[in-house]
Amino acid sequence: MDVMEAIRTRRSVRAYKDAPVEEEKLQAVLEAARLAPSACNFQEWRFVVVRDAGMRGRLAKAARNQAFVGQAPVVIAACAESVEHVMGCGHLSYPIDVAIAIDHMTLAAVEQGLGTCWIGAFDEDAVKELLGIPEEARVVELLPLGYPADPTPAEKSRMEMEDIVRHEHW
Ligand SMILES: Cc1cc2nc3c(=O)[nH]c(=O)nc-3n(C[C@H](O)[C@H](O)[C@H](O)COP(=O)(O)O)c2cc1C
Repeated sequence: MDVMEAIRTRRSVRAYKDAPVEEEKLQAVLEAARLAPSACNFQEWRFVVVRDAGMRGRLAKAARNQAFVGQAPVVIAACAESVEHVMGCGHLSYPIDVAIAIDHMTLAAVEQGLGTCWIGAFDEDAVKELLGIPEEARVVELLPLGYPADPTPAEKSRMEMEDIVRHEHW
């Protein structure tokens, strides 16, 4: 599968088959995160992989009761271990670095026939408590991972190119 095909066919999956994710497929997804670029190559991302059904259910509750989060056979908590670094442009690097790694995972998942959904609606303190994440670390996103219950990709709703690209100046 080429990158554009993965980009075109990826969509947020909110219903998963009751089927486990093979270890080698999970490793392929995590490898895509490991190889992501990061500011100064800090690689401050840390990933907590949760397969335990009870814990997945508790994470789903912490994610504003989005039940499908717990229904996925794997939930990855994408975290940053250090969160202080500010780039020359003034932006913190960790949310960007972790987001890039997550996006790599979402695309690698497509290649493996798996689905994901970015989850930003969650109670960070609750997730940290559940997973024993240190106080100084941050949880950036949760990422359920599993086989999509509906293999037909939904239509993408996106703005037109001319609405988002300006040439030479704003
Ligand atoms: C940073 C971020 C946070 C998101 N949080 C949630 C979430 O908590 N729950 C959810 O169902 N979808 C969430 N989404 C998925 C978006 O709703 C989805 O990406 C968008 O509607 C476009 O649809 P698509 O992913 O199928 O192309 C999130 C997406 C991003 C990028």
